[in-house]
Amino acid sequence: MDGSAILDRCAALARHSDSPDHYTRTFLTPAHRAAAAQIADWMRAAGMEVRTDAIGNVIGRYEGARPDAKTLVMGSHFDSVRNGGKYDGVLGILVPIACVAELHRRGERVGVAIEVVAFSDEEGARFHTSFLSSRTLIGRFEEAVLARHDEEGVTLDEALRGAGLDPTRIPGAALDPSKLAAYLEVHIEQGPVLLDEGFALGVVTSIASGTRFSVRVKGEAGHAGTVPMKRRRDALVAAAEMVVAVEREMAGIEGAVGTVGVLHVKDGTGNVIPGVVEFSVDVRAPDDARRAAAEERVLAKLDAIARARSVAIERSRTHDVRSAACAQWIQDRLAASIERCAPGKSARRLPSGAGHDAMILAQVTDVGMLFVRCGAGGVSHNPAETVDARDAGLGAEVVLDFLRKF
Ligand code: GLV
Ligand code: MN
Ligand code: MN
Repeated sequence: MDGSAILDRCAALARHSDSPDHYTRTFLTPAHRAAAAQIADWMRAAGMEVRTDAIGNVIGRYEGARPDAKTLVMGSHFDSVRNGGKYDGVLGILVPIACVAELHRRGERVGVAIEVVAFSDEEGARFHTSFLSSRTLIGRFEEAVLARHDEEGVTLDEALRGAGLDPTRIPGAALDPSKLAAYLEVHIEQGPVLLDEGFALGVVTSIASGTRFSVRVKGEAGHAGTVPMKRRRDALVAAAEMVVAVEREMAGIEGAVGTVGVLHVKDGTGNVIPGVVEFSVDVRAPDDARRAAAEERVLAKLDAIARARSVAIERSRTHDVRSAACAQWIQDRLAASIERCAPGKSARRLPSGAGHDAMILAQVTDVGMLFVRCGAGGVSHNPAETVDARDAGLGAEVVLDFLRKF
């Protein structure tokens, strides 16, 4: 299939950005709503019936060969991280749309109804939430998050209403698990394994477990010129030690990774000793046991540093997702489709270190994921992210083959 047409759409969608300088598309901004409208148009042109649910997911449906057919859900997200790459998420929307367009062009139906879901919030960059839309689809949206606010003080509830969505309808937006055949997500690998080993596509075996905390360190603000070094309770110096601890405490736990991606000095001023610092901690590991071990070590170390520096520490968990296994039957069928579409090439199976909507859907149905190789050393969450058009086209052929086996 024509991978360059798919990548052209990724590039066109990236022009709907919150910033004129780089690609950032956060939940419910005007750029996000414009991208949703564009995706809905492409779904309609591909022969789908389109609806938008109460959390802003755009869902296109293509009926199966029989009216009683179960539904195969395919999709990924169309929000982004700040200054991100233009394939993370959207490739997993545009590949299935291209596949349905091909079925529609040929007047062909398969043994499942297909729903392509463009998930509205996965990254959670605006409200420091994640997976709001996949949680809505499985009926596990937590109402308390409606009170969260963005940096301008706009609550999630207000943002939804401002976008013409009705938060009271979120509980009614869940899919009926008894009608689902499975969930399939296509995504760029976001790492270098396929690139280094010469595979265009990979079959995902499992998705890593992840947790995130928001940490607040409270010391004492004071005059930068008058407080002797020994009398200070500098919140930023304590936080700096904690940031290094997040890195160090991962050593010895196989596959565990820890990241501080946000750090704010409250009321930061050049001549003031920092009194309050807030930062994020993201800890992940291939399975829940290692994740729990890594998290426990980090939290104990942060407490010890706070005690040693006489600062107070508060933390709240903002994200907590268990690892998810991809269903064996989907892995095997994807591997067989790869072998049919690229004869002589066996399928590389690999785990995902990144989080995906699939790990939420896994709570109600069997899930599978197809990875497409990244270029540029496998970099992602970075504007340098790239995908080769031939790989995207091959990915679409594999998905089409997979669909035809139902
Ligand atoms: C999603 O991009 C994640 O944080 O893994
Ligand atoms: Mn991402
Ligand atoms: Mn993603």
